[in-house]
Amino acid sequence: MVNNNINHHEYDEGNPGLFARIADDIQEKGFSINPFALPLGLSGSLLDRINTMGDDEFVHARIGREQLLMKNQFVRKNEICWITGETNADRDWLQWTGEMQTFLNRRLLLGLFSFESHYSHYAEGDFYKRHVDAHKGDANRVLSIVVYLNPEWLPESAGELVIYKNDSDQEGIKVTPGFGTVVVFLSEDFPHEVIATKRDRYAIAGWFRLNSSVLGRIDPPI
Ligand code: OGA
Ligand code: MN
Repeated sequence: MVNNNINHHEYDEGNPGLFARIADDIQEKGFSINPFALPLGLSGSLLDRINTMGDDEFVHARIGREQLLMKNQFVRKNEICWITGETNADRDWLQWTGEMQTFLNRRLLLGLFSFESHYSHYAEGDFYKRHVDAHKGDANRVLSIVVYLNPEWLPESAGELVIYKNDSDQEGIKVTPGFGTVVVFLSEDFPHEVIATKRDRYAIAGWFRLNSSVLGRIDPPI
């Protein structure tokens, strides 16, 4: 179990500024890239959590409910661990994203209702080909967030996230997966990919969702 050593002063002071910048960016262009923006205490707890996680906590990622792992390996190769709030670090993360959800709902009236997220580990050579996190009309995943937990990332390690502005954009914007970088984007609107990494790469990926409950049932995470 990881000790919770968030510095509350910094935590309380930093978030409104960051959340406001994210809200403005989403409104203006639909995505927001914020290097070194995750509160330091939270970044440290999450890094400790990752460093003390057993290999058996990560499972191979799947895409969608029905697809076969064999097929997926051409699209996506990495491992994930869903965050359910088992440790202090996980709970701090869920608290922080909950505050962001409340802020964005007030500011942008997005109606975000729930949140799901997982740690991800890309080993050397792992990648995630160009994809979107939600399909138009599904009205489910609204906003994607990715935060990176890799101290001292060097350009030669590759592993960048590339965000494309639309379906025909082939150039994209490259984001280095450096420690504490926070990326947020509209899930339906931005195809993106992870370039094959040359070293271990750790991140959290999460999705704010609309209320998709049908007859009292809430969709489970994919
Ligand atoms: C994802 C994803 C991006 C990244 O998990 O859907 O696109 O940079 N992750 O890890
Ligand atoms: Mn994605």
